[in-house]
Amino acid sequence: MSVKATNYWDYIKVEEILSLQGGLENDEKSLSNEEHLFIVVHQVFELWFRMIIRELVTVRNLLEQNPVPEQEISLAVHSIERVEEILKLASDHFRIIETMTTRDYLEFRDKLSPASGFQSAQMREIEIILGLEDSERLPFGGPNGWKNALKFKDGSNSKAYARVMERLNDMPTVREVVENWLERTPIHGSSHGDEGDEQVVQEFLDAYMMGHEKSVEKQLQLAKDRGDSEEEIAGLVKRFDSQLNQARDYMQGKDSRQRRIRAAAIFIASYRELPLLAWPRRLIDSVLSMEQAMIIFRQRHARMVERVIGRRVGTGGSAGVSYLDETAKKYRVFKDLWAVRTLLLEVNALPKVQKPEFYGFATKTD
Ligand code: HEM
Repeated sequence: MSVKATNYWDYIKVEEILSLQGGLENDEKSLSNEEHLFIVVHQVFELWFRMIIRELVTVRNLLEQNPVPEQEISLAVHSIERVEEILKLASDHFRIIETMTTRDYLEFRDKLSPASGFQSAQMREIEIILGLEDSERLPFGGPNGWKNALKFKDGSNSKAYARVMERLNDMPTVREVVENWLERTPIHGSSHGDEGDEQVVQEFLDAYMMGHEKSVEKQLQLAKDRGDSEEEIAGLVKRFDSQLNQARDYMQGKDSRQRRIRAAAIFIASYRELPLLAWPRRLIDSVLSMEQAMIIFRQRHARMVERVIGRRVGTGGSAGVSYLDETAKKYRVFKDLWAVRTLLLEVNALPKVQKPEFYGFATKTD
C-alpha cells in the first residue's frame, strides 16, 4: 500500500492562510503595506490567543481533579509557563505596529469604525477562563456592553458572541480550581475537613500576625535608633497601623473558605523549602508570572495605542488610552495571590512549621 507523502503546504495550510489578508475589499493588492501589516499583526495575535485558550483549558482540567495527582502539577505549570511566554512575545509584537505612523494609520482608520479589539471574542474567552467576573469589568457601553459589542448592529448574534457564550458555560475557571486546590492544601499537616482543622488554620494565622506585629516593632525601633524625628515616627506608625489592619482583614477573609485559601497561599510561600511544597510553590509563582505578563500586555498595548493615536476616542467608542490603562489596573484575577507578597515574613520571623515530616522534611522535630 502506498503512503501519501505529506506536503508542508497541505499540513500548515499555507495557501489558505495567505488568502486571508484581503481586508474588507477582499483584494490584497488594493491595500497599503500599512493596512496589510495591521491585518497580519491582528491575525497573528488571534492565533496566539487560540493557543493560550487551549493551554488554559488544559490547566483548568488538570487542576479540577480532586485530588490533583502530585506529578500533574508540573504539567499545569508547564502550560502556564507557555501562556506566559506567548503573552511576552505577543507584547513584543506591538513594536511592529509602532513602525506605522499616526498619518499612515489615519489613512484607513475610518473604514474600521466601529470595529475594534474590543470585539475580540478570544480575548474575552481568555479573561473568562482565567476567572474575570462580569462584576469586575469596566462598565463601558453599559453593564452588558462587552457582550453587546459582539453582536451585529441589528442585535443578532455573531459567531464571536456564540463563542463567548459557550465559554461562559464552560466552568469552572482557573481561579476557581486554583482556589479549590488551595483550600485542600494541608496546613501544619492538617487537611480541610479534618477534626480541628479550622483551629489549626486560625492558630497559624494568629502566629503569622504576631510575626507581623514584631516585625513592625523592629522597624519602628530601627527608625528611632537612626534618629528619625517624632513627626517622621508618627507618620511611620500611621502607615504601619494601616498595613497591620490590612493584613488582619486579609487573614480574616469573608468566611472560613476564604480564610483557609489565604492561609494556604501564605503557608506555601512561607515554607518553600519543604519538599512537598516545591511544586505547589512553583504553581503559585507561575500563575503570578502569567498574570504579570497579562498586565504588561495590556499596558504595552495602551502605550502603543497612545503612540499611534494619542488620547483620542477609540474606533470602538471607548475613551481610548485611559480606558485601556484602567483595564491594566483593574482586571486582576488572582488578587489573593498578589496580596500574599505584601504579607510574607522574613524567615526568622516565621512561625515554626509543625509536622514538617508530613511535607517530606526529614529533620528531627521537637
Ligand atoms: C494601531 C493599532 C491599534 C490601535 C490604535 C488600537 C486601539 C485600541 C483602542 C482605542 C481600544 C479600546 C476600545 C476602543 O475604543 O476601540 C482597543 C482595544 C483592544 N485592542 Fe487595540 N489597537 C491597536 C492594535 C491592536 C492589536 C494589534 C491587538 C491585538 C490583538 C489589539 C487588541 C485589542 C484588544 C484585545 C482590545 C480590547 C481591550 C479590552 O477591552 O480590555 N489592538 N484597541
